[in-house]
Parts: sequence; structure tokens; C-alpha cells
Amino acid sequence: MLTDSSRFLQSAPYLIFFPGAAIVISAVGFNLLGDGLREALDPRLKRLGAAMSLLSIRDLVVRFRTHDGTVFAVNGVSFDLDEGETLGLVGESGCGKSVTNLALMRLLPLPAGHIDGGKVIFNGEDLLTLDESDMRDLRGKEIAMIFRIP
Ligand SMILES: Nc1ncnc2c1ncn2[C@@H]1O[C@H](COP(=O)(O)OP(=O)(O)OP(=O)(O)O)[C@@H](O)[C@H]1O
Ligand SMILES: [Mg+2]
Repeated sequence: MLTDSSRFLQSAPYLIFFPGAAIVISAVGFNLLGDGLREALDPRLKRLGAAMSLLSIRDLVVRFRTHDGTVFAVNGVSFDLDEGETLGLVGESGCGKSVTNLALMRLLPLPAGHIDGGKVIFNGEDLLTLDESDMRDLRGKEIAMIFRIP
């Protein structure tokens, strides 16, 4: 077949394009199909997903800009919280416990309070990049806060 078709290479080289494109499309298609099947069926990937925490805070940085200067309230806090788990944050007064929790719910007093870095991943979504209406849907239903001083 290759010998037969090589005769056309000189007279009509553009004919290479169609079988070539068909091969590329088939190869990419089979790869995508393989990836999809693996994602659906590979038990190792399922375990990885299950191992992901419900809430994952990474390198959270919060600052307040005040008339007296910048308050470095939270400086690179990281922790994970799994479903059904209880986590207590312990530390001296002013160390940033409340501000950490206000920040992850995006309830910092504005305009002074600023999240200057980090990630807050809840159920696989980064809460720091979620738009405000999605965040409002989440508050009270998925994540809630009981204030010490209501
Ligand atoms: N609205 C604000 N403006 C400026 N600085 C603030 C503001 N809210 C908190 N801070 C500062 O952020 C830092 C962390 O405060 P945070 O309230 O998180 O402490 P905390 O660990 O919850 O303390 P406590 O145990 O007393 O509740 C403190 O230095 C505090 O003064
Ligand atoms: Mg507090």
C-alpha cells in the first residue's frame, strides 16, 4: 500500500495531509479516551480524591492597613480539616485565630483587612477566588461561624 501511494508523493503531495490528520486525530482521541477511562476506573486516583481534605488552608497571609501602619495579623498559616474532624486553634490573644477564620469565610472588615496570600480550598474549590454570590450561597449552609461576642 505504501509503495503504491509513494507514486503520488511527487504529483499530489497534499494528499498526505488527510491520512496524516486522521492519524493525529485518532491518536489524540484514543489518548483522551484512555485518560477518561483511567479517571473513572483507576482505584488509586479514587483514593487520592478521598484523601483530599474537606478544608485545606495553605500559607494564609492576612494584613490590616491602619492609620498606625500595617498589622501583620496572620503570617503563613496552613492546616487541613477532614470531614467529621474537629480542630482547635490554640494561641495567645491576638495571635490571629479569629482573623484566620474570618479570612477563610471572606468576612474580614473592609477596607482594612486584606488577604495577601495563600489558598483556602474547601471541597476542592478555592474560596479566595470564588465570586461573592457563590460565597454567599456557601456561608451558613456549608461553612458557618458561631461568634463568641455576637
Ligand atoms: N479590624 C482590625 N484592624 C486592625 N487590626 C486587627 C483587626 N482585627 C484584628 N486585628 C489584629 O489582628 C491580630 C490578630 O487578631 P485576632 O482577633 O485574630 O486574635 P485572636 O487570636 O483571635 O485573639 P483572641 O484570643 O483574643 O480572640 C491582632 O494583632 C489584632 O490586633
Ligand atoms: Mg479571637
